[in-house]
Amino acid sequence: MFKSSISPANFKSYTSNCSKNLGANLVFNDNLVVLGIETSCDDTAAAVVRSDGEILSQVVSSQAELLARYGGVAPKMAEEAHSQVIDQVVQDALDKANLTEADLSAVAVTIGPGLSLCLRVGVQKARKIAAIYQLPIVGVHHMEAHTLVARLCDRDLQFPFMALLISGGHNLLVLARDLGHYLQLGTTIDDAIGEAYDKSAKWLGLDLRRSGGPAIEELARQGDAQSVKFSVPMKQHKDCNFSYAGLKTQVKLAIESKNIDAGIPFSSASIEDQCLRADIAASFQRVAVLHLEERCERAIQWALEIEPSIKHLVVSGGVASNQYVRARLHEVVARNSLQLVCPPPSLCTDNGVMIAWTGIENIRLGRFDPPPPVIEPEDCQLDLRPRWPLGEEYARGRSVARSVRTARIHPSLTALTQASECQS
Ligand code: KG4
Ligand code: ZN
Repeated sequence: MFKSSISPANFKSYTSNCSKNLGANLVFNDNLVVLGIETSCDDTAAAVVRSDGEILSQVVSSQAELLARYGGVAPKMAEEAHSQVIDQVVQDALDKANLTEADLSAVAVTIGPGLSLCLRVGVQKARKIAAIYQLPIVGVHHMEAHTLVARLCDRDLQFPFMALLISGGHNLLVLARDLGHYLQLGTTIDDAIGEAYDKSAKWLGLDLRRSGGPAIEELARQGDAQSVKFSVPMKQHKDCNFSYAGLKTQVKLAIESKNIDAGIPFSSASIEDQCLRADIAASFQRVAVLHLEERCERAIQWALEIEPSIKHLVVSGGVASNQYVRARLHEVVARNSLQLVCPPPSLCTDNGVMIAWTGIENIRLGRFDPPPPVIEPEDCQLDLRPRWPLGEEYARGRSVARSVRTARIHPSLTALTQASECQS
């Protein structure tokens, strides 16, 4: 059995010594063993990762059946589903790693952004383990985790780099300047691309048990991507923001105009009807990804003006597991003499590995909380951050009124990092 060389008792002094001198780019073998827990949306995930990058275990329990039945995530039901499986998922992760809680160096858990009912399940579990076994705990930003997992996959990936984060709830273009320091170049003004994939799949009567994205990707291979003339969103806006609500509506209208009965599942539809659906799927995917390509192209120019040393574009989040998306973005990146870093699909969709790894990166800089009390006070308010921006919006010659207007519950991760650096 693997035994961590750093016991929880000497952990704090060890990391605080390190954090004074080590930059976030320095990778070293320090034998941390971290449990990562993720419950921000519809997957219950846990993993154990060692600080040399070895993934000791990875377990994901998906709520795909629920999603297929209700056509989307219902927070109360998702919370119940997380509660039912969380103990087993964490136990399986420990068993597969051939470890017990006592062998861990720390616990990392997603505290936001996400659905608070769901986040709470993971955070309570993490705090319970950390309290009983007196382990430090790290509260992780879900989108930072999608970004940083690329540094686990590509150990040469140094800050600064660019990241395109594409999932069911987020569509972000960021400049990752350092650990905890992100500049937001673009975000969606309405829906994320994953939401557009999911709704299009639902309206096309596809089997949603693996979520809508993979279903559309598969069907699109059989269709003619030029057959339906969808327009590319936000052509007239020369910025790096995204919009997918209009494209969703275009898909819905195309389905109605071709008299496709979405009530009939794809497998029961006539061959002719199946071909029409494949054409819509392929045309949708072409335009959805063209929108990504255009925004990435501009964002690369912006980012290089700010940080000319950038060499990589990371593409992560559930939609980054799509092969067509990867191939098209590969071309954009190559045209701009950058390299594409795309984690393997199992690390693009929500997972515990990215949470554990982000925990490790933060612990190395001394960013963690002490073990919680074994008996939490009854009025204990958990630190959950359902709406939590990753960084400040890049203004580039215009006012930042949009971000000021946006009702925020929490200051961005970057603002918090800067504030804590000023204090120390
Ligand atoms: O990152 P993720 O697992 O969860 C969120 O944080 O949202 O992303 C889930 C999203 C879903 O919308 C799903 O349909 C999409 O990622 N997705 C895909 C593919 N695999 C997952 N979209 C397109 N193609 C795929 N192969
Ligand atoms: Zn995600």
